[in-house]
Amino acid sequence: MKKIALLGVALGAALLVAGGASAADGKKVFNKCKSCHSLEVGKNKVGPYLNGMIGRTAGSVDGFKYSKILVEAGAQGLVWDEQNLVQYLENPQKFLKAYVTEKGGKASGRSKMSFRLKKSDDAVAVIDYINSQ
Ligand code: HEC
Repeated sequence: MKKIALLGVALGAALLVAGGASAADGKKVFNKCKSCHSLEVGKNKVGPYLNGMIGRTAGSVDGFKYSKILVEAGAQGLVWDEQNLVQYLENPQKFLKAYVTEKGGKASGRSKMSFRLKKSDDAVAVIDYINSQ
């Protein structure tokens, strides 16, 4: 009986470790972005390429036709960092609207990115992954 209980504890711990690792696997999370974004400089798809996005002004990739609201946020000074990217990925519409409105802008239209990442853990992991590429 004792042995079985011990085995249960060990199995539980192993599952916890496996769960933690997959939650932090940015490469896996990036599979969700791949259909729309590449990590190759200059290669835009449905969305702009993402290399070097940390420290970049929002809406500033050459040759990509952004939504009005994302360009406006960039013009108001939005520069991507880890913190605002997590908020953006969790809810692009809500984040951009709040940003532009707070700066006194009109927040017209919607971001073209209709995708949302529900878990902030996933957002942090995928940002780290993109940043390491
Ligand atoms: C269904 C397609 C789609 C998916 C999936 C998607 N995106 Fe996007 N993304 C877009 C589009 C389109 C834009 C341009 C948004 C705009 O113009 O408002 C964008 C914009 C962005 C921007 C702003 C880029 C800039 O130059 O300012 C970032 C950062 C971003 N996406 C990251 C991600 C990440 C990370 C994922 C995966 C977790 C992801 N996106 C998934 C379509 C997508």
